[in-house]
Amino acid sequence: MTELARLVEEAELAFSQAADSAALENAKALFLGKNGALTEQLKALGKADAETKKTLGAAINGVKQQIESLLANRRASIAESELNRRLAAEAIDVSQDGRGHAVGAIHPVIRSWRRVEELFQSIGFDVADGPEIETDWMNFTALNNPENHPARSMQDTFYLEKKDETGLPLLLRTHTSPMQVRYARTHKPPIKVIAPGRTYRVDSDATHSPMFHQVEGLWIDEHISFADLKGVYTDFLQRFYETDQLQVRFRPSFFPFTEPSAEIDMRFESGPLKGRWLEIAGSGQVHPKVVRHFGLDPERYIGFAFGTGLERMTMLRYGISDLRLFFDNDLRFLRQFA
Ligand code: DAH
Repeated sequence: MTELARLVEEAELAFSQAADSAALENAKALFLGKNGALTEQLKALGKADAETKKTLGAAINGVKQQIESLLANRRASIAESELNRRLAAEAIDVSQDGRGHAVGAIHPVIRSWRRVEELFQSIGFDVADGPEIETDWMNFTALNNPENHPARSMQDTFYLEKKDETGLPLLLRTHTSPMQVRYARTHKPPIKVIAPGRTYRVDSDATHSPMFHQVEGLWIDEHISFADLKGVYTDFLQRFYETDQLQVRFRPSFFPFTEPSAEIDMRFESGPLKGRWLEIAGSGQVHPKVVRHFGLDPERYIGFAFGTGLERMTMLRYGISDLRLFFDNDLRFLRQFA
């Protein structure tokens, strides 16, 4: 057998022994690579005389073609077996029993959130969303809560190491009230919006959690008064709790961003909580300094704001006494609202 014919046999053997594509490419290099056996033959041809070049050249080319077609065949069969192996490994047994599936449910606080949105949307309020990481200015200063003012200590929060462009550290918002400023600065009056969302404080006990939910309300126009606040909020509470048997009172209070300010209390006239005054929101007529931070003229624009805790609203709705239950992820508790 000539050396060339032996090369074909050697290649066939080497290719068939290659178990995967990587091994096959290595085997290919032995014959067709830069220093492969066939390439060596072609190089040697350079020194041969014209007649030998012609016949031997043709023979070498013939062998090269044979080896290439052996290679192509082996490539195809390796590809096929690799595919089959993958199909077998990833096969799904469709006859196996299912594991069953559980139906999820909306968290009671989120249920309240959605309900509040629906009720306010039905009377023309927009719903806005904003950042939980706030600047000191938005969370405090713009709301007439100046640096070093003692009223700030009512709302201790978590600070970030990162600072804003004024050099003050960013913080987790302590209330949804900064959304009043953010929204009012980007919309023209009449401004009629609620802003539900997460808020944070350094507080933790049966009625406080470091993370909780609030909904802010703001209505600003040329003649929106405290009477509108009373009407809107009383109607909202009666619809939220699905009862007319509910009284509401506005108790004088202090917030830096409202003047006058009021705490809103409510009292059920029936049911398990009957007869007790329950605090439900902070509210007031927006302070002229805050209206100015909205970019509006307080001589012309006036209105009210309120802020309500969504956990609180939910606790009163379902008669839940410990707020921490909302965040323990105990299914025995959560399933009751599914
Ligand atoms: N931001 C206040 C708080 O978290 C609640 C509040 C009070 C919001 C009065 C208001 C308001 O919009 O007018 O304690």
